[in-house]
Amino acid sequence: MYSSTLSLTAFLAAAGLSAATPIVNSRAVCLEQAPASIGFPINFSITPTNSPLVSFNVPPNSVGPCSLVAKFPAGYPITSSGSNLVNVIAVGGPAPGALVGSVRFASSPDQRTFTTINSFACRPYMEFRLEISRDQANPGSVAFQEVQGAGLFLDIGDNC
Ligand SMILES: *[C@@H]1O[C@H](CO)[C@@H](O)[C@H](O)[C@H]1NC(C)=O
Repeated sequence: MYSSTLSLTAFLAAAGLSAATPIVNSRAVCLEQAPASIGFPINFSITPTNSPLVSFNVPPNSVGPCSLVAKFPAGYPITSSGSNLVNVIAVGGPAPGALVGSVRFASSPDQRTFTTINSFACRPYMEFRLEISRDQANPGSVAFQEVQGAGLFLDIGDNC
């Protein structure tokens, strides 16, 4: 008993952990959180006159960072016209109204796409506004459905 306690302590020390570190809250965990929504699929339609919100509830005691990502399976249907660059604006948080990223929602015919828009310190409720960029010639539109495995997600943890 003494020797197994000793070797566990030695292992934890070698791993840079103290014996008090709860392993279950290790940063090796990734939680992928779908948007908060009254229903699915979420029908995102982003146009010069429609800038939808996307929001996420972050479970208590989550170990961050919280990364806003866009991902789509191969061949996922996304409709788009004109310039479809989308600006992502923080709602609430430390810098409300700040531009926190830009993204073109696109799928590829033969491979999944994964884009990290930005990473943040986690907060219990995180909300963003999606706006077509007006800095481009011919501001257009983009629309897609959010279903399981496709759309916007909050990846919680640094091993996502
Ligand atoms: C999105 O559109 C589909 C029909 O295309 C509908 O069934 C679904 O309820 C819509 N989602 C929401 C959240 O309203």
